[in-house]
Amino acid sequence: MKKIVVLFSGTGSNLASIIEKVHKKKMRDDENCLGIEVVAAITNNTAAKGIEIATDKQISTVVLDHKLFDTREAFDTKLVKIIQSYEPDLVVMAGFMRIVTPIFTSQVQAINLHPSLLPKFKGAKAIERSFESDDAFGGVSVHYVSEELDAGTIILQEKFDKKMDGSFDDFAKQIKDIEHEILPRAIKHVLCEATKAKQSQAR
Ligand code: GRF
Repeated sequence: MKKIVVLFSGTGSNLASIIEKVHKKKMRDDENCLGIEVVAAITNNTAAKGIEIATDKQISTVVLDHKLFDTREAFDTKLVKIIQSYEPDLVVMAGFMRIVTPIFTSQVQAINLHPSLLPKFKGAKAIERSFESDDAFGGVSVHYVSEELDAGTIILQEKFDKKMDGSFDDFAKQIKDIEHEILPRAIKHVLCEATKAKQSQAR
């Protein structure tokens, strides 16, 4: 089993889709990727709805309130320590609304979900900015987490046409629907396909 730790901050709908689509599901027959297990779900938000989603599924859940830390570095040091105690193969940021420091990026291999077609609309309020822009499309990206915010190597992206007279809620819903499909797919890609490619290169 490959082990993943999921980081989240809010409603946890992406955490739920990861649990539904990859947690303890049989992946394939080869020894590289027999399955993926969510070994922990960690949030920085004491009021995150996702806490219930994880505990309901008996997934180890950690609440690490960032407000109790004086600096981002102090928070990240503790976060990395907790993550490492689970020895994950990959960390997945699924709506984790924190900017991480080099303390995190230098020690943890993580992927992040972002609700725009990066490099467009990096940072906060991406859905709003993407909706209000003149672009005829919206998108969703999954990328590796690097020191620079929302700038790591892209793993998967999906683009969709903006409806001419569609509402913001419709646009946001379309993004959510894509997110729920693309993030589990990216996790499988990184843990199964990418590992396989690396191994065959080494032969
Ligand atoms: C997602 O739209 C994600 O792209 C953004 O935060 C949202 C999290 O939603 N960064 P949820 O908590 O998974 O429902």
